Amino acid sequence: MDKIKIFAPATVANVSCGFDATAFALENLGDEMAFTKNTSKNVTISKIEGAKLPFKTNKNAASFVADVMLKESNADFGVAIEINKKYKPGSGLGSSAASSAGAAFAINELLGSPYSKTELTKFAMLGEEVACGSQIADNVSAAIFGGFVLVRCYDPLDIIAIPTPVDLCVTILHPQIELLTEEARTVLPEKVPLKTAVAQWANVGGLISGLHTSDYDLIARSVQDYIVEPLRKKMIPHFDAVKEAALSNGALAVGISGSGPSIFILSKGELQANYIEKIVNKTYQNKDIKFITYVSKIGSEGVRKI
Ligand code: HSE
Repeated sequence: MDKIKIFAPATVANVSCGFDATAFALENLGDEMAFTKNTSKNVTISKIEGAKLPFKTNKNAASFVADVMLKESNADFGVAIEINKKYKPGSGLGSSAASSAGAAFAINELLGSPYSKTELTKFAMLGEEVACGSQIADNVSAAIFGGFVLVRCYDPLDIIAIPTPVDLCVTILHPQIELLTEEARTVLPEKVPLKTAVAQWANVGGLISGLHTSDYDLIARSVQDYIVEPLRKKMIPHFDAVKEAALSNGALAVGISGSGPSIFILSKGELQANYIEKIVNKTYQNKDIKFITYVSKIGSEGVRKI
């Protein structure tokens, strides 16, 4: 294989209660990338559309991941990468993770698939460090595995694929402001009171159980964040108004997508998710902030060839 084109999904990390430990992939929103082999043994970026991102190999998450993988496997070829971003970086929808996971998946294919999904996640985490300063696994593992994931342990890395109830859908509201993960991590608390931690990890257990048993009410009760959301929501204009409007119109749960500013809203069924899209559109219009909304099923497949 000399060339591969892939789709790398957008992802929602944290899912409120599972900070840095849970995430899911979207079905229909994500980036497209093309990787073409050449004889140079170098990794270059030949084109970036849809966003202003660095072209330098060691500054761009995708090319950095590709370069590490080719060196690690003593490959006798180089690649040229084309990136077509379909949504903005700094959105809270795992933009750098899509690039990193997309590169890890594509290079693995060009190498003849020597690496497991967990190994690919480890490579992609290096891209997260380039883009946002930390080797966070949530978004990249969801992009690689698809569906819902649990990062049960970082060392050694242990990613658990969690089943998704068939009717679970998500509405996303993306205010067109940029919030970098690095910046959003500066507000995180150093310590958490034990009582708060107990409430939070009990919710993670509830979410995982609810996903396994398709118990939508349990999912709704469990997707709550007592630790990070109260601090980060101040950086997201009208977060409380959106949450209130969605919950009072039948949404299951509302939270900050990753490090924000996007807001995710879970619903049972596509009809309800589309209805919630209308509701939050009404809430956000006339607020002087441009925004985009999306409705998606949970993406069961993750990064894939197109
Ligand atoms: N869990 C991360 C955060 C999201 O909320 O900072 C980016 O992976």
